[in-house]
Amino acid sequence: MELLHSGKVRDVYADGGDLVLVASDRVSVYDVVLPTPIPDKGRILTALSLWWFERLADIVPNHVISATDVPAEFAGRAIRCRRLAMVPVECIARGYLAGSGLDSYRACGSVSGVTLPPGLADGSRLPAPVFTPTTKAPAGQHDEPVSFADVSAALGADAAADLRRLTLEVYQRGHDIALPRGIIIADTKVEFGRAPDGTLVLADEVLTSDSSRFWPAEAWQPGRPQHAFDKQIVRDWSQTVDWDRTAPGPAIPPDVVEATRQRYIEAYERLTQAAWPAA
Ligand SMILES: Nc1ncnc2c1ncn2[C@@H]1O[C@H](COP(=O)(O)OP(=O)(O)O)[C@@H](O)[C@H]1O
Ligand SMILES: [Mg+2]
Repeated sequence: MELLHSGKVRDVYADGGDLVLVASDRVSVYDVVLPTPIPDKGRILTALSLWWFERLADIVPNHVISATDVPAEFAGRAIRCRRLAMVPVECIARGYLAGSGLDSYRACGSVSGVTLPPGLADGSRLPAPVFTPTTKAPAGQHDEPVSFADVSAALGADAAADLRRLTLEVYQRGHDIALPRGIIIADTKVEFGRAPDGTLVLADEVLTSDSSRFWPAEAWQPGRPQHAFDKQIVRDWSQTVDWDRTAPGPAIPPDVVEATRQRYIEAYERLTQAAWPAA
């Protein structure tokens, strides 16, 4: 297989006309990949993506060909996919205010051109989920917010409307499944590609904690930053070490690695209501 792209956390290979997406155990904090892996993270997030793809299949077709027909060395943490012509927009849905959405709201009362009501706090639930797309910047550069009108101008009004509708439906389904299981999915980023016949197909990873904000529902309290379901332990520990948040990051001590691994497992088990390891 030919390595096409090595991201912060995943590696993308071409195999004939297919892609093989491989999730590593790498973990990033403040956008820096730390030198210590979290064992099983790649397998857990791969299993979670597959679980979600099944639960979204009536909303939109997806790129999955096989979770098992992959090289043995990547077994369990790779997905064979259809290689698509990717839509050059990061499709983001937000149901709660946090991160760059909160920054933008505080600066101008809107996110990606969507005006939000006054009085919202860090972590507030929005009156309804909003579509807040960004550009898909090349590695090393920052994605920039774009308005729905910008997406329409670039891709056509019909495509923009389809992307918004599908992104919001995927988010809503994910949120509504996760909430009673104790996880708030505050926002999520999805990517779409086009099949040769032009159909929009859900690609990349979906509704994982690397592509979404997962919060423990029992700790949600608007008015302060929320806890990250899985990475909070690493983030809290990283604040106790002398580190300026630039690469290379510090090695993670074994107790923090194990506690973090347990949180990834807990996210998987809460959502799927099945015991890890996946059967
Ligand atoms: N089915 C697909 N066909 C083509 N490209 C895909 C498909 N699914 C995902 N991709 C692309 O694979 C890449 C995955 O890279 P990723 O690990 O997320 O690294 P990065 O940090 O650069 O985003 C992204 O550029 C994504 O758009
Ligand atoms: Mg990506």
